[in-house]
Amino acid sequence: MPGSICPARYRERVGGDGDDLGEIRRWFREFAHTAAPRAPLYARLSAAIADHPPTARLLLHAPPTQRQCVLLFACVHWLLLTRPELEGNEALRRHYPNLVERADSTDPWPAFRDFCAANSRLLGDLLPRRSTQTNEIGRCAVFVPVLAGVAGEVGPLGHLDVGASGGLNLLLDRYRYRYVDATGSRHDVGPSDSPITIECGTRGAVPVPRHVPGIADRLGLDRDPIDLTDTDAADWLRACVWPDQADRFERLTAAIELARSSPSRVVRGDAIDDLADAIERLDPGTHPALTTSWVLNYLDVGRQHAFVAELDRLGATRDLTWCAAESPLLTPGLPWPEQVEEPALTHVLRAEWRDGRRAVHRVATAHPHGYWLHWS
Ligand SMILES: C[S@@+](CC[C@H](N)C(=O)[O-])C[C@H]1O[C@@H](n2cnc3c(N)ncnc32)[C@H](O)[C@@H]1O
Repeated sequence: MPGSICPARYRERVGGDGDDLGEIRRWFREFAHTAAPRAPLYARLSAAIADHPPTARLLLHAPPTQRQCVLLFACVHWLLLTRPELEGNEALRRHYPNLVERADSTDPWPAFRDFCAANSRLLGDLLPRRSTQTNEIGRCAVFVPVLAGVAGEVGPLGHLDVGASGGLNLLLDRYRYRYVDATGSRHDVGPSDSPITIECGTRGAVPVPRHVPGIADRLGLDRDPIDLTDTDAADWLRACVWPDQADRFERLTAAIELARSSPSRVVRGDAIDDLADAIERLDPGTHPALTTSWVLNYLDVGRQHAFVAELDRLGATRDLTWCAAESPLLTPGLPWPEQVEEPALTHVLRAEWRDGRRAVHRVATAHPHGYWLHWS
C-alpha cells in the first residue's frame, strides 16, 4: 500500500471478502511481494504466514471489514511494545529494527510463529477490537511550502486539519525541516530546538520558505480522534508503524511526547457535516487553511464531491484555502486536472476561494510519508 488506505479500499484492491482462510493466505502472499522493497521484515513474515494456516487463521478473528495483513502485524507489534513479560517477547523483539539497536539478521519467522502460538488467546481478543490508525508527521513537509505561501499572502492562518487523527500535523510549526535538493544543498526551516527533524528530498522549484508558516490558531476534526494522552491509544498508533521504518517510529514517538506537552484540540465530527462548525471555531481573525492528507480516500466518491461542494458553499462567502495530499486514484471526486500522471502517487492540490471565486492548482507529487516532494 502506498500510504494507509481504508480497509474497504484495501479490499477493493486485493479482491475478495477475506472470509476464508485460502483468501487470507493469498493476501499474505501478495503482501509479501508488495512490502518487500520497503519492509523486509514484514515481507519475510508475510511469506511465511501465507504457508502457515494456524498463524494466517488468526486474522479471521478480525471483523470482515477490518481484515488486512497489517492488522495482525500491528497487534503483534503492540504486544511487543506493551507486554514485555509475554512468552516469546524477548526472542521476537530482537528481530524488530525499531526495538533494538542492531536487529538480529537471522530468520525471524520461528520466533514470530512461536510468539503467535503462545499468545493466540491474547491476539484473538485484540484482533476483533482494533483497526489500523495513522498519524504521519512526515506529511507536514509537504504542507509547509504551501501554507507558508498562503500565510505570506493572507497573514496568520487558522489551521484546520480534517481527518486529523491524533492532531500531530497541527504541530507543523513546532517541527524542524531539512529540505535537500537534487544537488544535495540543504535548507533548514523551523525551530532549531525542535526535538524532531523531518527530512524531505526536493525536486523542481519547491518554494521552500525561510520560516515555518505563521499559525495563529489550530484545530483538528476527525470522526474518530485519537487521544494521545491515553497511553494505550498512543502505543497503538506506534504499533501501526512498520518496524522496518525505524525513523518513522522514532519521530512519531517524539511527536507524541511533544503533543502531550502542548496538546492540540481535535474535535469529533464528520469531514462534511461538521466542517462549517469547525471553521467557525477558528479564531475569526485568521484565514482558514484546511489540510487533508490520506483522509478523503475514506469517503466514497459521492461524499468526496460533497466535501468539495461544501467548501464551495463556504468559500462563496468567505476566503479560505485547502491543501490536499491525496491519491487521485482513490479520490476521483476531487477537482484534479483531467489528466494526472501516476494517479496512485500522492498528489498535492492547492485550492483557494477568494472573493467567492475558486482557483485550483495541482502543485506537486509527494512520497506518501513526505520523504520527497516534486514540484510541478
Ligand atoms: C489514514 S488517517 C490520516 C491521518 C492524518 N491526516 C495523517 O496524515 O496522518 C485517516 C483519518 O481520517 C479520519 N476520517 C476518515 N473518514 C472521516 C470522516 N468522514 N470525517 C472525519 N474524519 C475521517 C480517520 O478517523 C483517520 O483518523
